[in-house]
Amino acid sequence: MNTTYKNLNINSRVLSKTLSYLFAVGALAIFSSGASWAAQPPTTEVNSDVTVYKTVSCGCCGNWIDHLQHSGLNVGVIIVPETNSVRSRFGVPQEFASCHTAVAGNYWIEGHVPADLVQKLLDEQPADIKGIAVPGMVPGSPGMETPRPVEYQVISVDNNGEKAVYATRKGRSAH
Ligand code: CU
Ligand code: CU
Repeated sequence: MNTTYKNLNINSRVLSKTLSYLFAVGALAIFSSGASWAAQPPTTEVNSDVTVYKTVSCGCCGNWIDHLQHSGLNVGVIIVPETNSVRSRFGVPQEFASCHTAVAGNYWIEGHVPADLVQKLLDEQPADIKGIAVPGMVPGSPGMETPRPVEYQVISVDNNGEKAVYATRKGRSAH
């Protein structure tokens, strides 16, 4: 009887340890999924024309968001720790990487793309385009205004991954 009691005591201790371990793992899993924006589908936020994924410290991202808003687009912003995984998730070629990645309708928008071209995508809904990009950080692109703007290209990527020049723009020196 004594032995049985002792065994039970040990078992309940093991059980208690197991339960607290499982609780910890469960809590971690819940925390991870809650903290992971990547678990969400690539879609715009409710009532937003454009959803922008940016890091908290990106200033030129904020300038680009202002540019979109000034042209009448409704913008939702999602702060992420880094944008590489956002590009991977939406299928944006990493060679086109800029400081932010956005989603407008069914399309990804990479970098400082002029707002009228985002609006054009939303209006025309082309079936053969996945997204458009202004690769890098181009001086004179919207949100990157500078006294020395340069001409730049906006690149589109189609369903087969083929790239094309979607538009050519002159950079601007001011908003
Ligand atoms: Cu930027
Ligand atoms: Cu940016």
